[in-house]
Amino acid sequence: MAVTISPSILSADFANLQAELERISSADWAHVDVMDAHFVPNLTLGLPVVERLAQVSPLPLDCHLMITDPDRWAPAYAEAGAAGVTVHAEAVAAPVRLARALRARGVRAGLAVSPATPVEPLVDLLPELDMVLVMTVEPGFGGQGFLDVCLPKLRRLRAAVGTAGLQVQLQVDGGVSAATIERCAEAGADVFVAGSAVYGAEDAAAVVEQLRDLAERAAAAARAEDPVR
Ligand code: DX5
Ligand code: ZN
Repeated sequence: MAVTISPSILSADFANLQAELERISSADWAHVDVMDAHFVPNLTLGLPVVERLAQVSPLPLDCHLMITDPDRWAPAYAEAGAAGVTVHAEAVAAPVRLARALRARGVRAGLAVSPATPVEPLVDLLPELDMVLVMTVEPGFGGQGFLDVCLPKLRRLRAAVGTAGLQVQLQVDGGVSAATIERCAEAGADVFVAGSAVYGAEDAAAVVEQLRDLAERAAAAARAEDPVR
């Protein structure tokens, strides 16, 4: 299970996004938080910006749509050049139909859950998904404190993915830093989003490497305990 590091450009300098993407080029993906001021109380960027970022980004774009009516809007993000598109379980009307539409466009289909959303109802949908995103803050803003109470959901999802013999990736997003990433990896995450921890640092590449190292070690230790993982 390879570790994927996906810094969030939510904490980047929005006047210099191309240069800010270059700062994280040693990471695996660039996490793009799309917020519509309806699903969450914040507004960021949308399709025209994603389309342009996809043209200049050294990394695949991992788009996290915190928007209402993703059934209508998400396929356009695939066409705009995203490599993965994640929508919220609380907002999507027909998750299987949408995941199939995304996959048909050649992108990875993800489903996100906010802290109060249970993951059990999603377990039967796992074969239709490439990724589940477990939020460890309330969606809407960077720089919030990590919510440990969400970790059991990662644990249960990791067990369900293992039992089903699937390759679904488990992403953790919100308050991920050197202080919290090991707990996330130990609980079963394999894709790690970090915004303020990476962009708030002088040397973003050094933080990317530090996070990768901590996650790899914690994941290896967890695998040694439970070889089924
Ligand atoms: C929050 C976003 C996150 C955010 C993470 O709604 O989905 O991706 O950028 O920022 P940090 O890492 O600062 O919590
Ligand atoms: Zn996000």
